[in-house]
Parts: sequence; C-alpha cells; structure tokens
Amino acid sequence: MLISGRGSNMAALLYASQAPDCPYEIVLVASNVPDAPGLVLAAAEGVPVFARAHTGMKRAEFDAVIDAELERRGAEFVALAGYMRLLSDGFVAKWAGRCLNIHPSLLPAHKGLDVHEAVLAAGETVTGCTVHLVTPALDDGPILGQVRVAVLPGDTAETLADRVHYAEHQLYPRVLADLVSAADSTAAWLERVRSLAL
Ligand code: GRF
Repeated sequence: MLISGRGSNMAALLYASQAPDCPYEIVLVASNVPDAPGLVLAAAEGVPVFARAHTGMKRAEFDAVIDAELERRGAEFVALAGYMRLLSDGFVAKWAGRCLNIHPSLLPAHKGLDVHEAVLAAGETVTGCTVHLVTPALDDGPILGQVRVAVLPGDTAETLADRVHYAEHQLYPRVLADLVSAADSTAAWLERVRSLAL
C-alpha cells in the first residue's frame, strides 16, 4: 500500500484485513513522505514500512525503488491510499489491473484536488467516493465501486470531507477484498483447467 499522509484509509484496509475471512493481507506500507503519520500507525501494528523522499529523483527512478520494495515483500496488488504523487507509465503498466486508487468524489466528476470545495461551489446535493483501477490518466481508470454521500445544508469542505472519509473506509476494504477474491478464483480455475488438460 502507498500513502503520503494521515493514512485513515490505510487503517481501514489494515483493520479489515484482520478479520478471519479477509482474502488479503497488508505486506508493506510505503510512502514518499518520510514523516507521514500513517507510517507510525502501520509500524505500531507490525506492518513492514518503507519511506523515501522523492525529492531530487526522476519519477521513474523513484517508482523503481518503490517497485523493488513491493516485490521484496511479495506484494500482488498495490492500493493507493492518499498517495499524492503521480506514478510513472512504467509502474502503471507493470501493475495494470492490480493497482487501485480511492478518490473522494463520484468519478468521473471532480477529478484531481480540492474536490469538496468544487462540489460545494457547484451546489451539488450528492457527492461520494470511488475506488478505481489506476491507468496513466489521473483519476480515470475503470470504476470498481462507489458510495454516495449526501451534501448537507451548512456543510463546509471539512465536514463534507469527514463524512466522505467514513464512506471511503467502508468502500475500500470491500472492493479490495472482492478484487483479490476474484483474482484468486480465476487463478484456481486456470490451475484446474491446466490440470485437466494434462
Ligand atoms: C482520501 O480522501 C482519498 O480519497 C484521497 O486522499 C485522501 C487520503 O486520506 N485520495 P487518508 O490519508 O486515507 O486519511
């Protein structure tokens, strides 16, 4: 998992993984921000962490460092959870179909930053969050799941962000579990077909 900040989605994914029937485990929390608060929590929970500032490194060069850590820990999927850095095309291509991101809007509406301000400025009454596969374009890959969140009278960007966060914490673990389970079933099915063909 890759984070840059407080890591509340990381915490949701991590604690969901402790349920006995959860099909995924968190093998690494890595960050481009060495003092990201989420790293402290991950380490305290016994999850391997890796931190390296990207400053002064070319994007592809930095992503190769992250990729090497993911491989070293045996990662099969990459969950971006508040990772505030664009990924290089090479990294995205390598992890295609296995790299997910969460975004605090009902994509394709409001890609990028300052989402809640944009929702309020547009006078929208419903917003939400989206988990999608990562493709080279920002916040643009196939949508795997969404939760709708009502905008309340008097909401500020902060109150709205808080409520969308609650929704994110429900959505992300469920979508990741579904994706991992689907991949596991497909792998088991392919193995079965191969064994029958022998
Ligand atoms: C979340 O709102 C997520 O949708 C966005 O960045 C924020 C990260 O928050 N990509 P947290 O670090 O998980 O609390």
